[in-house]
Amino acid sequence: MNTIPGLVLGIESSCDETAVAVLEGRAIRSSVISSQVDLHAQWGGVVPEAAARAHVEAILPCVETALREAGASLADVAAIAVTNRPGLVGALSVGATAAKALSRTLRVPVLGVHHLEGHLVSPWLVRAGAEPAPVEFPLLALIVSGGHTELVHSTSLLEWKLLGATRDDAAGEAFDKTARQMGLPSPSGRAVQDAAALAGQTRYPLPRALPDDPFAFSFSGLKTAVRRLLETRSDLDTACLAASLQEAIVDSLVSKTIAAGESLGVKVVSIVGGVAANSLLRETLSAQCSKRGWTFLCPNLLDCTDNAAMIALAGSLRLARGERSDAAMDVFPNAELP
Ligand code: KG4
Ligand code: ZN
Repeated sequence: MNTIPGLVLGIESSCDETAVAVLEGRAIRSSVISSQVDLHAQWGGVVPEAAARAHVEAILPCVETALREAGASLADVAAIAVTNRPGLVGALSVGATAAKALSRTLRVPVLGVHHLEGHLVSPWLVRAGAEPAPVEFPLLALIVSGGHTELVHSTSLLEWKLLGATRDDAAGEAFDKTARQMGLPSPSGRAVQDAAALAGQTRYPLPRALPDDPFAFSFSGLKTAVRRLLETRSDLDTACLAASLQEAIVDSLVSKTIAAGESLGVKVVSIVGGVAANSLLRETLSAQCSKRGWTFLCPNLLDCTDNAAMIALAGSLRLARGERSDAAMDVFPNAELP
């Protein structure tokens, strides 16, 4: 895996997290995340204008903290990678402007990175003391986050082919929206997992939508099913409902991913994105892969949700191929991979 020599500064501000990281090769020297979750909680969703303003306040302190934690200074930065697509335009602009200003001042190259490419390479980040994950192809990647549920096929590094996606809600949305109906606290995916850990044997019937398209998912039926249960049953046990919900989501994700892997003849499967932090999903997919002799890859638990280390790695891999952005680098709210 060819990365550029020296330290790469990664910057991520596409949604509601301001993140800055320092990467050396694949090794994370520091990864700082300033979350706006509490700010947006009062409105029940991310308010783009407020997100952009919060990024403006957080970005330079995050750069300083990331460098300090890495034991480095601005003078040590060899290149800068920044998320410039897709995402909220105002939020992206804050990171991109900071990256361009730093690049101009330090006289080091800058590269705009696709947010999902960051997630896709995140299993190859190396945390101190951890073994580097193997880099093998062909690979089938499942991206599961608050905004995405996508299957991506890759035959070589940085070559991505989108196979299919959710037809309605993303897996993370399925966790978040139903958790809200159940009165669980935010961040909801983690709250569902924690509540499910306390569940007894009882399970409630919830649908597993398995669209005919081998690469498609669907989760919108879950919200309705959970709402109906909440309206019609007064004896519901929240922990058991959380466990039922988690199993329904994980069942759909794992069965579609394994079937897709078999039809493609892949031997390597990865999961990335915030929902990849779910322990039942990690355990179930890992077990299904090892049963077939496949390699299973997932990011460290700390690197599943939005972070800048993954952006630094994606950028470093492309910078090593000679790719560069310039002062005219723009931001794009919508963008296909890569
Ligand atoms: O990748 P991410 O940080 O942001 C997006 O790009 O969307 O993913 C956030 C999503 C949220 O929907 C959150 O509920 C979910 O990841 N999530 C989890 C867990 N931790 C985070 N879902 C299930 N189980 C978890 N442990
Ligand atoms: Zn993300």
